[in-house]
Amino acid sequence: MKVQFSAAALPASGFIAVGVLDERRLTVTAQALDDRLGGSLTRAMASSRFRGKRGTTLAVLAPADSGYAGIFLYGLGPAAELDALKSQAVGGALQAALAGSGADSVVVILDGLEGCRLAATDIAVEMAFGAMLRAYRFDKYRTKEKEDDKPSLQLLTFACDGAERATAAFAARQSVAEAVAFTRDIVSEPANVIHPQSLAEQAAKLAASGVEVEVLGEAEMRNLGMNALLGVGQGSARESQLVVMQWWGAGRPPATPSGDPAATANGEDNASGPVVFIGKGVTFDTGGISIKPAANMEDMKWDMAGAAAVIGAMRALAARRARANVIGIVGLVENMPSGTAQRPGDVVTSLSGQTIEVINTDAEGRLVLCDCLTYAKQRFQPRALIDLATLTGAIIIALGHEHAGLFANDDTLAAQLVAAGAAVGEPLWRMPLGEEYDKLIKSDIADMKNVGNRGAGSITAAQFLQRFVGKTPWAHLDIAGVAWSTKDRDLTPKGASGFGVRLLDRFIADTVEAAGSVPAPGRG
Ligand code: BES
Ligand code: MN
Ligand code: ZN
Repeated sequence: MKVQFSAAALPASGFIAVGVLDERRLTVTAQALDDRLGGSLTRAMASSRFRGKRGTTLAVLAPADSGYAGIFLYGLGPAAELDALKSQAVGGALQAALAGSGADSVVVILDGLEGCRLAATDIAVEMAFGAMLRAYRFDKYRTKEKEDDKPSLQLLTFACDGAERATAAFAARQSVAEAVAFTRDIVSEPANVIHPQSLAEQAAKLAASGVEVEVLGEAEMRNLGMNALLGVGQGSARESQLVVMQWWGAGRPPATPSGDPAATANGEDNASGPVVFIGKGVTFDTGGISIKPAANMEDMKWDMAGAAAVIGAMRALAARRARANVIGIVGLVENMPSGTAQRPGDVVTSLSGQTIEVINTDAEGRLVLCDCLTYAKQRFQPRALIDLATLTGAIIIALGHEHAGLFANDDTLAAQLVAAGAAVGEPLWRMPLGEEYDKLIKSDIADMKNVGNRGAGSITAAQFLQRFVGKTPWAHLDIAGVAWSTKDRDLTPKGASGFGVRLLDRFIADTVEAAGSVPAPGRG
């Protein structure tokens, strides 16, 4: 489906959609149309339950002499409540209602709304963004879908004042929506298609938009000493990969002879360093020798959603030429049981030098992330580290599917991320960290073990990660509950959500870019 913007005029034919506010109050254009059609819209509403509630729609039979193929009413709710996110939801709901309506092209009329803090142009841009996000489909493997089951809608035209300004403003949104779709695509792919190497190839595509992409294989990682990550992949026939994506949109810092940015005096707290995003990319998580039960194991194809979100965010930033320095690092492995697989009780030496007793091979995400965190710190002296991972089932027990869990060692960074998440509709809920939790991962034989006992499973996972970040401002987003939706949502059809792409993009826009050059977050 495509979207476009046109001048604020009611077309004479075709399919149109006009807005209705709460309590069936018609917008200006809807009222004019109703007058012209002898009250047809008012009568259609009166004989239905449609009251103009935000996100609802009503298909009205167009009178024969009206010239229209069909008229849709879409609910806006109270004008005073309408903000960017709610406008996106209206666009998403309208798209979903029109998708299978039989209409292939619909002109959506946007009027200025009295008492609304958004101009019609802005509402149009937000609605278009919402419609694009909701129109996503992953249908490449459906070879026998009937024409009638496919969406009819191909084009949405938003008719509003300032259509040119809307078109310009929408360009950046479109980049983000396309990045979300890209992320959803790779999360949706099965694990026989998306494995460490093919996922690295997807990341390598970002080179076309100016991102520097490097792919490290197992030999390189072994030379570096990334044994925690390598241990997870050692049971798989697929080679583990590490992908480093660099976007220097605010200008490269002076380089050392190695080509990497110069280290700060203490190697930490580098206010001018890049932000580094890190993603868990377990392309399939069987649990390894600590194998998972069969029920729902297919879900573990999306155990790379953190990596996919990071790749998508890098794509969005590059596509809109973000004026910020951002690095994306994803650790790509397949967690399989086999004769070469890691065993419970094995001890590995991580890149940081710290040793880990692997009690449970199913707690593999933290083993991948810890080496990525160390690699990021050593190589880039980041101002902040932000990792995304489908890390624990326990976060689903705590927060369900409505918030991702946020853990951070820095209050400013945490607040910035919570704000970015709220702004884009990808909410975060901050969870605690603390010394007492940290004690739960003490090992009898190594520096730490990779699991705690039964309680606080998401927190002990975060404590594990914290042991690798030192004083660098760091945040960990446990997205296990939000990466995949089992139901349709306003902006996300059932399936891969692409959670994190919009959030990370917004975080960079509101902190790094908005400030030009930003001071490092303060310690909390
Ligand atoms: N990838 C899983 C976490 C997960 C579970 C993501 C359900 C999405 C949905 C992770 O690798 C895992 O297996 N975690 C274990 C940790 C446990 C062994 C300490 C878990 O949550 O059960
Ligand atoms: Mn696991
Ligand atoms: Zn996992």
